[in-house]
Amino acid sequence: MKRACVIGWPIEHSRSPLIHGYWLMKYGIDGSYIKEAVRPDEVADFLRSLDRRGFVGCNVTVPHKELAYAIADEREASARAVQAANTLWLEGGKLHAANTDTYGFMTNLDHAAPAWKAHDGPACVLGAGGAARAIVHGLLEAGVDEVRIFNRTRQRAEVLAQTFGPRVKVFDWDARSEASREACVLVNTTAAGLKGAGSLGMVFAGFNPACVVADIVYVPLETELLVEARGEGLRTVDGLGMLLYQAVPGFEKWFGVRPQVTDELRAILIADVEGKKC
Ligand code: ATR
Repeated sequence: MKRACVIGWPIEHSRSPLIHGYWLMKYGIDGSYIKEAVRPDEVADFLRSLDRRGFVGCNVTVPHKELAYAIADEREASARAVQAANTLWLEGGKLHAANTDTYGFMTNLDHAAPAWKAHDGPACVLGAGGAARAIVHGLLEAGVDEVRIFNRTRQRAEVLAQTFGPRVKVFDWDARSEASREACVLVNTTAAGLKGAGSLGMVFAGFNPACVVADIVYVPLETELLVEARGEGLRTVDGLGMLLYQAVPGFEKWFGVRPQVTDELRAILIADVEGKKC
């Protein structure tokens, strides 16, 4: 039986076992996928002993993604671009690392808003943490002419911008509405919408009508940001799709089947997020 897991600290909130468990059942695979609570000071030991612990690989979530990247023997370009890894697997006796957050976000954006166009205006990103790095990388790869970063702590946005070069520009947090009006896409990567942790204070009046507004927060599924954007007639993309698509490459590496993100799987996750049984 092939075994995989997700490590984090804390880990109770992780919905990855629900996703991989669904696919294992759907494809009739003799495998398992469990949560492992791993403290920051135990991550290195844990990852170096994956094989001995009987795992073929694992997902890595907050706050271990940078450490996992540093520990891996081989790093895919996706991980190098973000300097963080969320998907690890053993191959030829070596620990390989990838970052599938970029793939997850961009694939979901393409599915949920197929009409979005990289050249309809700048791409605007709220936040400058690890998730922002993955998304900025994806938007640049998709060919946007300019990415504008807005972060409460401007210095952090400047550090991020420097690593990506001249197509990434830093703006003041207070300019986030005004300087995003021409955007082709606006993405919230901050934790501000999480479980109603406060509004981002965006004003969508006067926005490019073609702008797609995406949130990576999925609890709640309907963040204040998305409700406000739709109120101004803008298309929106919720954060659940990114979670589902980022899981695809890992499952394929560990269990040998490229799984499908289906409406049924999405419904199971929505029911879980909303605290219902499905
Ligand atoms: P992740 O790796 O998930 O992106 P992170 O590295 O902790 O998480 O980054 C969190 C981001 O959310 C940061 O950009 C943070 O802004 P600061 O750099 O100023 O801390 C942003 N953030 C968190 N809470 C916020 C809030 N209430 N309003 C605006 N930005 C917020």
